[in-house]
Amino acid sequence: MPHQNNSVDEFIRLCLEDAVTHGCEPQAHPLSRAVPVQASVESARANKRIHARTKDLANKVLADADAVYSVRGYNERARQLFGEIYLGLDKGDEYDRQATKINIAIQALSADEAFRQSLDATRGKLEAAPGAIDEAVIVSVLAHMCTLWFDLPDGVEIVEGGGRTSTPPQPPALCPADYGVPSACMFYADGDKLMSEDARSIGHILRDSHASYIARLRREGEKPKGIVSRAVFEAYPEGDDDLIARSIVGVMMGMLPTTYFNLKFVLAAWRAQGGATFTRLQNALSAHPGNNGYERAYAALAEPMFQAIQGRPMPPEVWRTATSDHTLGDENVRTGDQVVVDIASVTASDLESGKTDVFVVFGGDRSARHHPTHACPGYEAAIAIMLGTITGLMEPVAAS
Ligand code: HEM
Repeated sequence: MPHQNNSVDEFIRLCLEDAVTHGCEPQAHPLSRAVPVQASVESARANKRIHARTKDLANKVLADADAVYSVRGYNERARQLFGEIYLGLDKGDEYDRQATKINIAIQALSADEAFRQSLDATRGKLEAAPGAIDEAVIVSVLAHMCTLWFDLPDGVEIVEGGGRTSTPPQPPALCPADYGVPSACMFYADGDKLMSEDARSIGHILRDSHASYIARLRREGEKPKGIVSRAVFEAYPEGDDDLIARSIVGVMMGMLPTTYFNLKFVLAAWRAQGGATFTRLQNALSAHPGNNGYERAYAALAEPMFQAIQGRPMPPEVWRTATSDHTLGDENVRTGDQVVVDIASVTASDLESGKTDVFVVFGGDRSARHHPTHACPGYEAAIAIMLGTITGLMEPVAAS
């Protein structure tokens, strides 16, 4: 079975590659000097790491029907970066208080609108910068979608940007780039190895820039206009501004690196070997009838896009900490062990057996009646952004 390289080295290589494609000098990425945090490395080593590599086992860990897995390890790392977020809280009253209204608002985002907005942003970018590479287009689209949903980047505290090679990192925060490293530190099983001074600085820059943004709104007596920021603002009482700022960082961190890298990988796969797949799908899209842009793109492109995601998913893994002794498949799991949901193995195996299914890449299907607690609320919005961007690249000028 093909297996993805999930290592931290692979992530550093990606960051470097990415910075280079954004026109930066090909010098060593600051994160390649990462010094592991001793305490968390030692505690991780004292326990076993167990991989859930089949779909059944992966879903068992994500669903956690017996309540034997915790996401608390995410917040142990998040505290060193920008502070705690609800993705690092286990199901319970505090998780429900923090997550419910915001997840409902994210799930309610209109896929049709997100498709049209990202299609327009792609065409706008290509008009302003003809021949822009895919990564530059994706950066631009994601920054644009964030201005619509979060009012950020605001051009002051947070500015549009991909790839950061200079060190030490300095404000302002870059959107989408700066959400990537903290997210890798949290969600990769080995992310503690990425927890360098530079990674922490990026986390602090994010925390401070989001806090200043909320403070400015309060001073001016305003509320955010962006649908998601506004939902976060209204979900918590005034006085919880630190929680508001962290929650917005958390949601943007859920959205940005995942959508960025999945889009980048899908396009890279289709453009390989002279771009034959891209051209074939472009022709299929153009031949597809229909007036509703999103439905047409979905019908022509969603299945091959899902298959490409299955070939190289981001995230390739998520992880949990066992909270009691139990068995998982043939493995004896002890309290404190790290249990890794090996998403890349699950999707590779499905791909090999001809099954198209990306829900595991999103931590489960939140629209199902019994879904994993943390399953992604942004599934539909993400698919719409990806299809809008790809459609814009395939049809850079609107049909008259
Ligand atoms: C291709 C794009 C995306 C992928 C692959 C993805 C993947 C994931 C995964 C795997 C999780 C669960 C992590 C775990 O269980 O350990 C998650 C949770 C989350 N995602 Fe996404 N995501 C994407 C896009 C988005 C978007 C567009 C948004 C918001 C607009 C978003 C917001 C969130 C939030 C808030 C959570 C935490 C949910 C909770 O803990 O209740 N994601 N995502």
